[in-house]
Amino acid sequence: MTDSTPVVDLEALSARLREDDQAFRRSFALGPLAAADGDAAQLPRVPAADGGDQRARLVALIEARTGIETGGGSSGGDRLDRLLAEMPAALVPVWLKALEAEPADSPGWEALIAGLTVQETYFFRDPDQLTFLRHEVLAGLVAARRHERTARLLCWCAGCATGEEVYSLAILIVEVLREAGEAGIRPDGSLFVHPRWRIVVLGTDIDRTVLRQAREGCYLDFAMGPFRSWPATFAGYLETVADGAPAVPVPPSAARPTLRRICPEIRVFSSFLPFNLNQPEPPVLQADLVLCRNVLIYLSDRGREHAQRLFHRALGRDGHLALGPTDTLKTPELFQPRWGPDTVLYRKR
Ligand SMILES: C[S@@+](CC[C@H](N)C(=O)[O-])C[C@H]1O[C@@H](n2cnc3c(N)ncnc32)[C@H](O)[C@@H]1O
Repeated sequence: MTDSTPVVDLEALSARLREDDQAFRRSFALGPLAAADGDAAQLPRVPAADGGDQRARLVALIEARTGIETGGGSSGGDRLDRLLAEMPAALVPVWLKALEAEPADSPGWEALIAGLTVQETYFFRDPDQLTFLRHEVLAGLVAARRHERTARLLCWCAGCATGEEVYSLAILIVEVLREAGEAGIRPDGSLFVHPRWRIVVLGTDIDRTVLRQAREGCYLDFAMGPFRSWPATFAGYLETVADGAPAVPVPPSAARPTLRRICPEIRVFSSFLPFNLNQPEPPVLQADLVLCRNVLIYLSDRGREHAQRLFHRALGRDGHLALGPTDTLKTPELFQPRWGPDTVLYRKR
């Protein structure tokens, strides 16, 4: 096996992902995720030495379980204060006890995490970075691998929310394949990709609720909605969904909203799994690319550094990391910046 060969069998991986993410978790990410899954007794507890200060215990518990920063002055802290202000005081210790006893993927934790973070996302967010990625990284990967009998491409979008980033990346990959003559449009209008390609764009998020919509690949089209930056030339990657099709949240004011679904040829490369960036091991190894944009802002300094070490471990040789425009690199010893027009990517050292 060469260093560029993913240690994960992509075919098996994508088949498993489509089947059942629990099965995936058991077979590919055994130790760390299994521990976070069910055995509450093994989970870290907040030290009792903090004198019963409920808020301080919550802050420490939230950081221990998720890496999310909720200390005073942070945006997560403001949101935690709002949640506490809405709760009868007598309920706070009961809630804290329940959170201590439950794993971070329980419904109680899901609701708390959704209240502490923002799931805002849209297709083709930060076009300068995506253009740089397309021409400087993806084009090179496709050129280097197109002569291999089985050409693999593995990308991980960490903190993908409702999936727009995952589908944007999958579309850019297919665009690069089309430019290279490795994909095209059949006479009936359908998209094909040369069968040598094994492509997985894995989207993960701590919040399972958003992943349900991500898997549907179905979105409401409205002004300033998820399609606000969608390039008109990419219209062919969308289908309009007829009435009564998959359920996504519809605002009561939207009389007859248009639902658009990502076409099946793109969805087949795109997979979604719950994953907490606080886990000790990444969900994949030997990835070509990791995107983690607009997520680290929610994490503590320690959580950010831990996440960047995970990304380094997930990437193969010469793999690239894309962060959000306001994210800073906490681990310069692990990544080399590559500057482009108004943007930056990080190459694994
Ligand atoms: C603003 S969205 C970013 C979506 C997308 N990456 C983008 O740039 O458009 C932030 C996402 O990070 C997720 N998140 C926050 N803390 C996380 C953690 N510890 N592990 C995994 N995901 C987390 C949230 O659930 C949320 O969906």
